[in-house]
Amino acid sequence: MGLMDGKKGLVTASGGGIGRASALAFAREGARVLVSDIDDAAGNETVELIRAAGGTAEYLAGNAAEESSAEALVARVVELWGQLDFAHNNAGIGAPTKPVSEQEGSDWERTFGINLFGMMYCMKHQIKRFKEQGTPGAIVNTASVAGISANAGLSAYNASKWGVLGLTQTAATENAADDIRVNAICPGATLTAAIEYWAAEVPDQYEAVVEAIPMKRMATAEEQANAAVWLCSAQASYITGVALPVDGGASLRR
Ligand SMILES: NC(=O)c1ccc[n+]([C@@H]2O[C@H](COP(=O)([O-])OP(=O)(O)OC[C@H]3O[C@@H](n4cnc5c(N)ncnc54)[C@H](O)[C@@H]3O)[C@@H](O)[C@H]2O)c1
Repeated sequence: MGLMDGKKGLVTASGGGIGRASALAFAREGARVLVSDIDDAAGNETVELIRAAGGTAEYLAGNAAEESSAEALVARVVELWGQLDFAHNNAGIGAPTKPVSEQEGSDWERTFGINLFGMMYCMKHQIKRFKEQGTPGAIVNTASVAGISANAGLSAYNASKWGVLGLTQTAATENAADDIRVNAICPGATLTAAIEYWAAEVPDQYEAVVEAIPMKRMATAEEQANAAVWLCSAQASYITGVALPVDGGASLRR
């Protein structure tokens, strides 16, 4: 028995990194998963990995910043498998590092477009669908430790991820009575392709970041995925509105 046996849902930005690990983990636990990304080759590769492991997955191209995409993803899950049970809203980008006094509005608009507006559109259509079905539902949003602590130079990213947590808690409050649970994971530094590239380029900076983490290592994408799956599973049936740090203790130092 898997934690998500028979469940149907979607993972945004699942062509790589945490999203790919999440799609694989949901499928490993028995769910049917709609993979979505702006990079079709990467998204289709995730689907192939899931199928190679014996799971069920399909791909739909999607830009997580656009409402039409959020709506289409929900419609496709329903078209394929009849019902939506869970969603992992994972898409997010960083902004160029600059102090507040030098911020460009365009950086804020781009970051908020994906990290916060996109998240809002996804949740809007997912919750609407749960209510139409009259079924329970589970949503997990990818925030960040940057949503519960401050980092000099990261104001757009920080503010967008704090916003994700506010949105998560509001939606959790609004929908708890319908057994629609909305939670967030707050990843600390996680070994994705971009971080691995950065670590190879500037090993001294990488070592300094690792040294500041109480567990003295970065997370794997799989560790983030496991938390996301668990929050969407029946194991977390009485948990809603939480911001779960998955950060090796990093947020304990704020
Ligand atoms: N990696 C970390 O250390 C870390 C730490 C904290 C939070 N996060 C958060 O985790 C989430 C995933 O991060 P990651 O590092 O795994 O990502 P990543 O940079 O590895 O990208 C994963 C995928 O996102 C896709 N993507 C980018 N923009 C998209 C869009 N607009 N619509 C759809 N897909 C899009 C990319 O094509 C890629 O396949 C983000 O929300 C990020 O803010 C990551």
